[in-house]
Amino acid sequence: MHAHLDATPSAWVRRWAAWVRPGGAVLDLACGTGRHARFLAQLGFEVDAVDRDIGLFADAPPNVSLRQADLEAGPWPYEGRGFDAIVVTNYLHRPLLPVLVDSLERGGLLVYETFAVGNERFGKPSNPDFLLRPGELLEAASGKLRVIAYEDLVVEEPRPAAIQRICARLE
Ligand SMILES: C[S@@+](CC[C@H](N)C(=O)[O-])C[C@H]1O[C@@H](n2cnc3c(N)ncnc32)[C@H](O)[C@@H]1O
Repeated sequence: MHAHLDATPSAWVRRWAAWVRPGGAVLDLACGTGRHARFLAQLGFEVDAVDRDIGLFADAPPNVSLRQADLEAGPWPYEGRGFDAIVVTNYLHRPLLPVLVDSLERGGLLVYETFAVGNERFGKPSNPDFLLRPGELLEAASGKLRVIAYEDLVVEEPRPAAIQRICARLE
């Protein structure tokens, strides 16, 4: 099974969810099946979830506002909105990185985890457009967010992959 079709929330998202303002507004960007939107809704957050293909996200809970949008064409769908956390997993569209940073409320967390250069030896994604360069998430946060945690490593679960992940806060 592909990682993004697994209903289990990422350990990184589970780890940092407790740091988000209780009851706050959370965005699950490129939500896929909604594994994180569902998890965060269960924790009592008001969740916005967006994807180009929302067909995989069946039975969204009442505190999830699901929106269909192409994040790589057309305007940013959350213009003027601020979030207490933005969660992105297994998705990269570089031009959005500064937009995400600018869409955090004070105290808001960027929780980002996706594939990195080196992943091509394990399989897909192998296109450099979808692979973070070394330190790229740190650069996205640099001068704007306080980095709470950052990892750049090879994981074995749910399948072998080269990933980077960050949790960073707007202070
Ligand atoms: C590998 S899945 C990850 C899904 C989810 N974040 C997770 O980790 O379970 C990548 C997701 O990005 C979405 N996606 C790809 N290109 C997109 C675009 N241009 N606009 C919006 N969503 C897009 C896909 O539809 C897919 O659901």
